[in-house]
Amino acid sequence: MKSSEIRKRFLAFFEKRGHAILPSAPLLPENDPSVLFNTAGMQPLVPYLLGETHPQGKRLANFQKCVRTVDIDDIGDNTHATFFEMMGNWSLGDYFKEEAIKWSYELLTSKEEGFGLDPQRLYVTCFEGDESAPKDEESARIWKSIFYAHGVTGERIYFMSAKSNWWAPGPNGPCGPDTEMFYDVTGELTNGMTKEEYMKADEEQRVVEIWNDVFMEYLAKDGKVVSKLEAKNVDTGSGYERVTMVLQGKTDIFSTDIFESTRNKISELSGISDFTDSKQIKALRIVMDHTRSAVMLLSDGVLPSNTDQGYVLRRLIRRAVRLADTLHMKPGSLFWVADTLCEQYKDIYENVGRLKETIKVAIDTEEKKFRNTLNAGMKKIDKVISVTYNESGLKFGDFDSDLDIKMLDPKVVFELVTTDGFPIEMVCEIAKERGYIVNMPIFNKMLEEHKEKSRAGAEQKFKGGLGDTSEMSVKYHTATHLLHQALREVLGTHVQQKGSNITPERLRFDFAHTGKMTDEEKKRVEDIVNEKIQAALPVSVVSLPFSEAEKTGALHFFGEKYGDTVTVYYIGQNLEGAYSKEFCGGPHVKNTNELGTFKIQKEEAVSQGVRRIKAVLS
Ligand code: ALA
Repeated sequence: MKSSEIRKRFLAFFEKRGHAILPSAPLLPENDPSVLFNTAGMQPLVPYLLGETHPQGKRLANFQKCVRTVDIDDIGDNTHATFFEMMGNWSLGDYFKEEAIKWSYELLTSKEEGFGLDPQRLYVTCFEGDESAPKDEESARIWKSIFYAHGVTGERIYFMSAKSNWWAPGPNGPCGPDTEMFYDVTGELTNGMTKEEYMKADEEQRVVEIWNDVFMEYLAKDGKVVSKLEAKNVDTGSGYERVTMVLQGKTDIFSTDIFESTRNKISELSGISDFTDSKQIKALRIVMDHTRSAVMLLSDGVLPSNTDQGYVLRRLIRRAVRLADTLHMKPGSLFWVADTLCEQYKDIYENVGRLKETIKVAIDTEEKKFRNTLNAGMKKIDKVISVTYNESGLKFGDFDSDLDIKMLDPKVVFELVTTDGFPIEMVCEIAKERGYIVNMPIFNKMLEEHKEKSRAGAEQKFKGGLGDTSEMSVKYHTATHLLHQALREVLGTHVQQKGSNITPERLRFDFAHTGKMTDEEKKRVEDIVNEKIQAALPVSVVSLPFSEAEKTGALHFFGEKYGDTVTVYYIGQNLEGAYSKEFCGGPHVKNTNELGTFKIQKEEAVSQGVRRIKAVLS
């Protein structure tokens, strides 16, 4: 079955059963500051799984673009990809286990409407129960009756622990037990298996997971189930690439028709028609995977940079360049690989077609930048001094002239990697060619310290310090302080800042609070902020020793590390009587009368116990 047919059938199947088909959300989550990318189909739906009403109803289905980079080093094996599409269907407090399982089975096995898989090769797991939730007998019973009704015999339902059969997107939020479906890719395991045999087959990848039905009826906090959700929801997920692999009788996703045109293009560009050498196969897969992810990230507006999502994109492109080089593809080849990918995806994702030229040029530009970096780095390496070191001591600056080991100056190595973006493995390779070595323990230590510092920097940013000092952003920053205080006044002092994001167009403020704000509450908050703006209050800053600053009652983040001296911004005539006081790095306006009129545009859930307000000034 062609991958295009699989796509059509999945959506048609659920549409026919009353599901609204949603477009894929962008790869960058709108609603969740805790993750860089959407990593599962349910992520954009968290607020609705927590109880908010979805405008399109209680039955939803779609293909969701996902990027997972945790296992980036596994790319090149049979089943991992950094970008993939997840097929999913959801019930928001509508149908539950009976329908979800029945439909999964029907779609997988129906020859007319579904994928026509052989039911005798299907195996399923259910949750065995623990202190969070009881054994999922119900799912097992449903499976049993389905198998019985279809004459599918032999042992094929297994109870497993939370390690494999409990699903949660993170430590906080909706979660629940799941039932997972596996398919025998060998065609030899048709008569059922004991649990031990099944576990062995799973380990050897003779059975492959093809679908997961999660029964989200619980709520977790800090990784522990704390209550039941308002509604019993269903969240399912099935990897499109994997299902295609199974349906096309392949043993790896890269050999499916999803990668066919890309594979052909790379053959053409490298002159390799048959990839047989394992190193070449791995390089081919990495170039295909990373370029595809880069295309998708660029189409969703990410640009290569040194931070966050942009840094992931940069790494993906640069790694693709290096691996393309090992396949003897000419410089500039990725432009054409991207071209092929854009052609393939333009009818599925409108922005891929619309931004095609921008995407190709961005990849090409990044490749050129990287090549410049490589050239400059080579020169730098050639210039650097060598020092001799004592392997046992390994202290920075230590050296023992008896040992004739030439080592690159760790400071230079560090700069090459962090400032110039030179991959450390390449530094090592080049050093080796020239008879030098890199002191990895020292390099790693420096890198760790560097990461600590950037983490602290990121936290600072999260605390609401302002990177962008445009006039509008500064106004929004001051408005955020007024909003924070007004929320505490109206909703209570449990309100605490959980995140803040300011652009010249709006402010976004995340805060601790349970439940939707009522219209009156929103109105009161708005009125208070506007009152304070009209009162023309001065905004001032003082520097104080930490303990004294704390005594003023200024808001700050508990558990956060501050220096000995901190700055407190206050809004009002004097520090004691000020309306708002916060530990903050600024900058702010001089007087609230500069702000104009404040209006709340949206109030919504971000995760359990965290709400988000978007507001504008006019
Ligand atoms: N959210 C579930 C998963 O990603 C379906 O496996």
